[in-house]
This record gives sequence, structure tokens and C-alpha cells, in this order.
Amino acid sequence: MTSYELREFEWLPDLDLATVEPLVASIDRDGLCVVPGCGTSCVSATLRDGWGFRRVLSLDSDAAAIDFMRARQRDDARRCDFVVADATDCADVVADGAAALVVDKSTLDCLLCGDAAAYACSVARMLAVGGCFLVMSFHDAEFLKAALCAALPFCVEREVVREKDVALLLRRTAGAWEPEAVAAALLRPTVPPERLARLRASWGGARPLREAYDLLFSDALKAEYAFADFEADAGSADRWSLDDALAFLRRTQ
Ligand SMILES: C[S@@+](CC[C@H](N)C(=O)[O-])C[C@H]1O[C@@H](n2cnc3c(N)ncnc32)[C@H](O)[C@@H]1O
Repeated sequence: MTSYELREFEWLPDLDLATVEPLVASIDRDGLCVVPGCGTSCVSATLRDGWGFRRVLSLDSDAAAIDFMRARQRDDARRCDFVVADATDCADVVADGAAALVVDKSTLDCLLCGDAAAYACSVARMLAVGGCFLVMSFHDAEFLKAALCAALPFCVEREVVREKDVALLLRRTAGAWEPEAVAAALLRPTVPPERLARLRASWGGARPLREAYDLLFSDALKAEYAFADFEADAGSADRWSLDDALAFLRRTQ
């Protein structure tokens, strides 16, 4: 698709940004504000013109979206920077600890079907300790809080829930993280963090597929997903380690 075929498009169209703005009221307007996965949304312009952030750097891996956003603001007195970049791996664009605020509107939602862990680690990397991660999402607030705070140095500051959408403000605390633990925490609810801890405790060595199936799926899920289907999806291995099982869930959830 070429840039002139694109148009403004808003994910989470029912989430009114005016209800979210109070969450960031105390954040320094001179600090760098990064918008990963900006798409062709109005968020970058709202941060600059409405909320008063003076340095807004918006990233997207889609070059056509970035071209469109650059062209759209050509006549604006004040500009945001729009850069083509992979938000999971962008240390060349945003230095470690450079951002005071990272604003995500549905980018994590999108990456939960892909490399959410690399993305979440990248956000933690680019934020200054004390900086904030504003996540706007259609996912459940409890899942997001547990997933993002379990293995990353984030704590929950504030939240707004509007019908099906949530805006969550997390503060970056001091501390390190293990990418594998982040990946495990971000598994979407088939294996929430507390269940993962139980699985780790009970799995032991490699398990025959039947035992893996019994350990992985609740009775409700088994009613929808028969062992024969699981066996067909599982490929040729007849025994699975817990890591094999988690990789399978990441691929299929
Ligand atoms: C669900 S859309 C959200 C767009 C916009 N934030 C909004 O609120 O309308 C996700 C956006 O993330 C971008 N994206 C996906 N993976 C990315 C990555 N690894 N790095 C940068 N952008 C990415 C997509 O191109 C898309 O524009």
C-alpha cells in the first residue's frame, strides 16, 4: 500500500483521550515522549498539541504509515518526529533510559500475537527509571497489570477503565529483567502467571503428550480442544518439556 492510499485510523475508537489525559498530568512536558506503533492515529498530535509534550517521537515498522504521518503534519507549526523503526529493537533510535513517557495505544495488543516480550523489554529499556508507560488496551486490566509487572520493573500508578478499554499508567522502577520470565508472564490467559508457577513446580522432565495435554488445559478448554486435535497440532515430538509447551502456546494462543 502506498502512503496516499492510507488514511487516519484509530484503534480503540471508543476510548476518549480526554479521560486518559489526567493520568499523565504530573509528567514533565519537556521529557521525551515515545509512541511505539503510532500507526496513523491522532495520538502523536494529541500528545503534542493537546497534552503539551514538546518532544514527541513516534515509531512504526510500517514505512507507509510513517510517510503518511510526516506528510500530514507538513503544514503544522510544531512537528512530531516520525521514524520507521522496529519497536522491539530500536536502541539506535531511542537510547537506554531516554524516554520520560512511552505511550502505547493498542500496539501491545497487536504484539501479544507476536513478540510482546521483546517489545515490553524494549519499552523498559528506553524508559528512564521513574519514567512512565501509558498502555491503552482492549485487554483486561488485571491481565495487563500482572503480565507487565510480574517480570519487568514496572509498578502500577493509576488506571482508567472505560467499558471494554483500559488505560494503565505504569512507572518504571529500578531493576533488571530476564527476557524468558517476561515472555512467560506475557502469555495470554491460557497460562496466567500463577498457573505458570504451578506448572513449573509440577512439570518435571519431558512429559508424554497426553500428560502435557492434561497439565496444560483446564476441563473447560479440553471440552473445546480435544486431545486428538492437540496431537495433530503438536507435530512429531512425543514428549514435551515445559519450554516446548510454552513455545506451543505462544505459537497458537
Ligand atoms: C493495532 S495498531 C495501533 C495503531 C495506533 N497506535 C492506534 O492507536 O491507532 C498497531 C501498530 O503497531 C505497528 N507495529 C506492529 N509491530 C511493530 C513493531 N515491531 N515495531 C513498530 N511498530 C509496530 C503496526 O504497524 C501498527 O501501526
